Amino acid sequence: MKNIRNFCIIAHIDHGKSTLADRLLEFTKTIDSKELQAQVLDSMDLERERGITIKSTAVQMNYEYGGEKYILNLIDTPGHVDFSYEVSRSIAACEGALLIVDAAQGIQAQTISNVYMAIEHDLEIIPIINKIDLDSARPDEVEDQIVELLGCPRSDILRASGKTGIGIEEILAAVIERVPAPTGDPEAPLQALIFDSVFNPFRGIIAYFKIVNGSIAKGDLVKFVNTGKEYDADEVGILRLGMEARQRVECGDVGYIISGIKTSKEVKVGDTITHVKNPCDKAIEGFEEVKPMVFAGVYPIESEEFENLRASLEKLQLNDASLTFQPESSVALGFGFRCGFLGLLHMEIIQERLEREFNMDVITTVPNVSYKVYDKKGAVKEVHNPAGLPDPTLIDHIEEPYIRSSIITSTTYIGPIMTLCLGKRGILIKQEYISGDRVEIIFDLPLGEIVIDFYDKLKSISKGYASFDYHIHDFRPSKLVKLDILLNGEPVDALSTLTHADNAQSFGRRMCEKLKELIPRQQFDIAIQAAIGAKIIARETVKAVRKDVTAKCYGGDISRKRKLLEKQKEGKKRMKQVGNVEVPQKAFLAVLKLD
Ligand code: GTP
Repeated sequence: MKNIRNFCIIAHIDHGKSTLADRLLEFTKTIDSKELQAQVLDSMDLERERGITIKSTAVQMNYEYGGEKYILNLIDTPGHVDFSYEVSRSIAACEGALLIVDAAQGIQAQTISNVYMAIEHDLEIIPIINKIDLDSARPDEVEDQIVELLGCPRSDILRASGKTGIGIEEILAAVIERVPAPTGDPEAPLQALIFDSVFNPFRGIIAYFKIVNGSIAKGDLVKFVNTGKEYDADEVGILRLGMEARQRVECGDVGYIISGIKTSKEVKVGDTITHVKNPCDKAIEGFEEVKPMVFAGVYPIESEEFENLRASLEKLQLNDASLTFQPESSVALGFGFRCGFLGLLHMEIIQERLEREFNMDVITTVPNVSYKVYDKKGAVKEVHNPAGLPDPTLIDHIEEPYIRSSIITSTTYIGPIMTLCLGKRGILIKQEYISGDRVEIIFDLPLGEIVIDFYDKLKSISKGYASFDYHIHDFRPSKLVKLDILLNGEPVDALSTLTHADNAQSFGRRMCEKLKELIPRQQFDIAIQAAIGAKIIARETVKAVRKDVTAKCYGGDISRKRKLLEKQKEGKKRMKQVGNVEVPQKAFLAVLKLD
């Protein structure tokens, strides 16, 4: 055990974590550089394309140093806020962390939140200034920021480039010299922390764990403490680049277990594995159920596709227990599902996977958050959909989730960022200078305001020089009202939103204006109205047009005519019939694009 090192890489998104991991794998000859497909650790296609690590993975490297053989377990962590619980569990499985900071960008919001998590778990932090090959690199300045953040001596900070390979050897040396070997008692009852799981179509669910105490052998009867379920360990092993079966996985090591688990819901990240005979006294601390906070309706464009959509969602859920879904119906959209996501990015990813991997054409409605609705008798109900709001006369009050967010930016942008956050009903908590002209602003904000076009606006007003990180803080009472949209007098349930009473008027007006732009002219006038209860607060009209697409084809060229009609049919696919009005998918997300 004294020659095992378990470590992870923490970084703000795009600071070069995956690239650096590739270099480590190459340098330790875990992988042949010729075979090295860029970013081995990001295995899903979608991840590679987006350059975002969604699911964390582990990989074992063998490395000789100072005449001794070492086992280095690198645990990859996802970089985006939506997946921060997974980051915290991966961190809990390690004794050390490489903290990567981009030499040009310096410390960003997720650098700080990840550092706090690493400190909380008593990890040895090895700070690395990465991308020093860049012309725009400012390593000295970034060094100042790191010293300020960690209070470490300058000599602790390494400089590297994942691109050119500078500093890789020094990083490996630091891992061995500075990261403590796992402690833990090989003779004690088994205690293994589950930090990730994946679905394999042939093997079922594979759970990844780190053994904190004891050891696990093939054939052992084990129990997952938090779910209380028991399994036979059909196969256990370690994680090299792929899985390698072993008779036994020892204390301190990182490994996997296959035990006929059918659904991802049975394996909860953060749970503890122990033996049924001779169990440990208590579970490893810090277990948390991840709860989806953002909800949206997902509807098939063709209503016959409903069952296929259900099957696709079930398959996705096998791999992603944080995705939830329940059937729901909408007058406008027919039958679909109300899906719960960890955050907006998670939602986008699921939507994209449905389209790519399952070939589903879906319409997604405006996302909303989870509300707590208190009735006059004091009972509370969680509502995930504006349409599910009880009769207003029965409601005592509604509470909505608030986040505590950290925004790091340069002083130049403080003004516009304050204006943006205050406009989103934000409450300034504090403002602190990090170094030079960089400042951290802490705001409490309603999550419901963030799911709607906050990131994009933040990015554009700060020209990309603001980073953002958040966690759910609490629920607070709010004056929320349900705003309905009517098309030719018919309420379109899928366009209803909950909005703050003070903003409802202007919100309704902007919705109508936006919808007017998005709904194509049809052969009759279309009235677009916004209403709160029975009261109409805004109205726009889409004027009628007579559109005959084939008129300009002079009858002659039949193939051209057919092509045009087909093109028009394609366009229609993305439309949904609401009463007699055809509404494009874009319109259902109009609220995201309000000016
Ligand atoms: P996420 O997985 O999305 O969190 O990103 P990451 O931190 O893993 O970053 P990734 O390794 O994908 O690198 C982000 C971008 O920076 C890519 O375009 C890389 O090619 C580039 N990059 C990474 N390391 C270096 C480096 O040392 N020098 C330079 N010049 N570019 C780098």
